Amino acid sequence: MNVNQYDLAVIGAGPGGYVAAIRAAQLGLRVACIEKESRLGGTCLRVGCIPSKALLESSEKFVQAKEHFGDHGIHTENLRIDISAMMTRKNQIIETLANGISGLFKKNKIDHAHGTASFLAPNQLQISSSAGTRTISASRILIATGSVPIELPGLPFDGKRVISSDQAIALEKVPQQLVVIGAGAIGLELGSVWSRLGSQVTVLELFPAVLPGADEEMARQMERTLRDQGMKFHFGITAKGLKEEKKRLQVVFGPSDGPADKDSSTPADVVLVAVGRRAAAQGLNLEKVGVNCDSRGRIVVNHKWETSVPNIYAIGDVIAGPMLAHKAEEEGIAAVELICGKAGHVNYDTIPYVVYTAPELAWVGKTEAQLKEKSISYRTGKFRFAANARALCMDEAQGLVKILADARTDRVLGVHIFGPQASSLIAEAGVAMEFGASSEDIARTCHAHPSLPETLKEAALAVDGRTINS
Ligand code: NAI
Repeated sequence: MNVNQYDLAVIGAGPGGYVAAIRAAQLGLRVACIEKESRLGGTCLRVGCIPSKALLESSEKFVQAKEHFGDHGIHTENLRIDISAMMTRKNQIIETLANGISGLFKKNKIDHAHGTASFLAPNQLQISSSAGTRTISASRILIATGSVPIELPGLPFDGKRVISSDQAIALEKVPQQLVVIGAGAIGLELGSVWSRLGSQVTVLELFPAVLPGADEEMARQMERTLRDQGMKFHFGITAKGLKEEKKRLQVVFGPSDGPADKDSSTPADVVLVAVGRRAAAQGLNLEKVGVNCDSRGRIVVNHKWETSVPNIYAIGDVIAGPMLAHKAEEEGIAAVELICGKAGHVNYDTIPYVVYTAPELAWVGKTEAQLKEKSISYRTGKFRFAANARALCMDEAQGLVKILADARTDRVLGVHIFGPQASSLIAEAGVAMEFGASSEDIARTCHAHPSLPETLKEAALAVDGRTINS
């Protein structure tokens, strides 16, 4: 056997790529996974989902200790934060999980090739690293190279004053003034981290509200809550550039097509640009082998994740669709299963969305605006966490659950949760929708008392106007 000949080569060891590699190995393929970074795990693990969640947890504990422990009769004098210890803890989590993936690769006999891959031919890759260059061949190649932060004209990243999420999870001290451009998931999550740790956070957003893709009612609740937590917002504007005033950096912003005399500015020690991410398809030499990309640089695939070139596949952030780790994972597994003659499938209608603020926002399925746009008539059931015993005991009784059910069939079309542990609660809604549940099904399912998931049962009862506890 030629050591450089594989059944499948996966480019990228993020949540899409590493999971696909493992599934392929389980199905008996000889697999190589190529990763340019020294750590496995991709953006999600190195500089994205995981480090941000570690810091969200630490910073929320600080807020709890500072503002809420007293209510429980627990007094904490001389409370202080040690950013360096917080970062060390975060780095240890990354290290543990990255080592875990290395272990899984060994267990599954996946060859981890360190280096940057580019196509030499449709079934041949060159892998370059500081150690040199080698060539591997694979009957099939799966591209899972993810995405990179988008840079704004007038605000190029310098890694110090104008940063992306990559650096916002690793600041050495709390900036006095943090300006966040973009009120998407990254802006709100990382804005929350630094706001909790003491920064004055100002968010500049193009759209008239936070989280353009979320249900409007939930987005409004989120905005109100974050304002109460001390964050400031300017909507309907674009960040235009930087200026220096009295040795102080200022971010200039105003209506996107408005004249300069309508512009305002806000001071910043650090500017976090979080206006979205773009597919990382450059440098792969795709043109050479004929893999097509769309106008936004995303690799074009069909329903089997096949690109325009036979035996080359792509999944995750580098193709169209929501840029979510779990979407990439599902696609990776389905693509590999189809390659192996199995029935891989992704139900894009039941992909959950989560924003890990406090409280968290999570949803699955359609928003009210999407249902109205499609002229689908629906019934709404809502239940507030304030009427849930467990939430009150936890001192986390903010927010609500909203269920949208088809007016004719009662089938659940969308579930929106703004409240404690929404990221976990949404799983019940996902399973229910995956099984085509009606709101009546959820309403008649026995839920433990007292527990947070009772809010889902009550919201389901509310669809039919028979909620018990409100
Ligand atoms: P995003 O696309 O979610 O949000 C970007 C925001 O920036 C939008 O609200 C947009 O209107 C605004 N914007 C764009 N240009 C602007 C300008 N010139 N001035 C002011 N505002 C502007 O992108 P984000 O937050 O950077 O996240 C990137 C990707 O990563 C997204 O697909 C997101 O879903 C994903 N992600 C998901 C997380 C989660 O699920 N918890 C966490 C972090 C990221």
